[in-house]
Amino acid sequence: MTRKDKEELLGQHSVMIWFTGLSGSGKSTIAIALERELHKRGLLCRILDGDNIRSGINNNLGFSETDRVENIRRIAEVSKLFLDSGIITIAAFISPNNDIREMAANIIGKDDFLEVFVSTPLEECEKRDVKGLYAKARRGEIQNFTGISAPFEVPEHPALSLDTSKLSLEESVNRLLEMVLPKIEKK
Ligand code: ADX
Repeated sequence: MTRKDKEELLGQHSVMIWFTGLSGSGKSTIAIALERELHKRGLLCRILDGDNIRSGINNNLGFSETDRVENIRRIAEVSKLFLDSGIITIAAFISPNNDIREMAANIIGKDDFLEVFVSTPLEECEKRDVKGLYAKARRGEIQNFTGISAPFEVPEHPALSLDTSKLSLEESVNRLLEMVLPKIEKK
């Protein structure tokens, strides 16, 4: 059966919503809130994030440049399987540079790839430091920490930017819904 058959079965067009941004910027929080809103509207989603990917399929990968590329490559390939099953797929990973995001977009197909930059500034992410990792990185206890000792390249042409130091969660989700619903519901 084809993707189109599955999309018809589910009554939705599957798209990839790809969040990129620093650790602690709010990617997963927004992803979860977005999924809830889409689910309420009868739309089937799958979230991929650090909790279900780095602890499982990618538990042999670290944070060197090579491992980050492999992390994102596998995530993009897995995402493609979900998209081919007609499922709206939401990924929340730092994906720290243009090459990595470009690779993901090429695997998934650019037409279906919506890049969303969670642009919360480093100072705010570090202030929140939900997992205490920024403090560890500053003390030199974690190497290659994105934003501190490893680079983060700002996306050039994201479909949407959301700064969670300025927008409420509800505002961020509303902006996302405005962008994605017409694409999902185009049948
Ligand atoms: S990515 O760069 O390969 O896309 P990914 O999103 O999977 O990163 O994982 C990022 C999460 O791993 C961070 O939110 C943080 O909790 C944790 N982490 C542990 N070590 C690092 C590090 N050196 N750099 C960035 N994040 C790290």
